[in-house]
Amino acid sequence: MTESVFEADSIRVCYGESEVVGKLSLDAKQNEIVALMGLNGMGKTTVMKALIGLLPLRAGRLLLGGKDLTRAAPFERVANGLAYVPQGRMVFPTLTVEENIVSGLPASARGVPAEIYEFFPVLKEMRKRRAGNLSGGQQQQLAIGRALASNPRVLLLDEPTEGIQPSIIKEIAVQLKRIRDEKGLTILVSEQVLSFALAVADRVAVMVRGALVHQSPRADLEEASLGKLLAI
Ligand SMILES: Nc1ncnc2c1ncn2[C@@H]1O[C@H](COP(=O)(O)OP(=O)(O)OP(=O)(O)O)[C@@H](O)[C@H]1O
Ligand SMILES: [Mg+2]
Repeated sequence: MTESVFEADSIRVCYGESEVVGKLSLDAKQNEIVALMGLNGMGKTTVMKALIGLLPLRAGRLLLGGKDLTRAAPFERVANGLAYVPQGRMVFPTLTVEENIVSGLPASARGVPAEIYEFFPVLKEMRKRRAGNLSGGQQQQLAIGRALASNPRVLLLDEPTEGIQPSIIKEIAVQLKRIRDEKGLTILVSEQVLSFALAVADRVAVMVRGALVHQSPRADLEEASLGKLLAI
């Protein structure tokens, strides 16, 4: 069995006294794309924020390449190969596309790595434009490009399709798989759009009220059965 690059073990996350994620375990292997599916309010963003270190873990462990990052600050997690694209993209609207990407580069880097513009040619075309003037889909591509600037091993993507038109959703699915193939990347992506998750994922995990109720390889799932699992 291939070893997990990324492993969250029995994590528990709370807001004050209210537990939103309880004893959730999730792992991903090198080159694997795992979709974390769940309807609104089920806890996807809470999991993502806890994994990157924006919310503390009340219990459980986080391992990256076997290294324990449970207590590491977000910047240390990034330095160890984790990258995060937040829900709503959060690009800097008044900075240019290029400046946004540069903001994700480590201090030692010189200029935008060519591969980012190869993966997303539209970003090269628009590199001098302010990010706030890009479409939602282009901003999502920018947010992914910026996250890739730190050359991560594991990419966390929180609802990348939210508010994006269907043709661009398909394009993003193709781009993510290409990036995974070329970089040997591991991707954990939270989603509600069934078609996108089924197009992109190797494995699907379904979350209901802060707990996983199902996990299986993509090949074992059909859209209708996944839809039913989400609504449990
Ligand atoms: N800062 C907060 N303080 C208290 N409760 C919160 C906070 N943020 C989220 N919650 C609650 O935690 C639960 C999970 O929210 P979360 O944002 O993780 O869900 P989600 O699956 O990402 O939903 P969506 O698909 O709408 O983005 C919800 O019940 C939400 O109301
Ligand atoms: Mg969310």
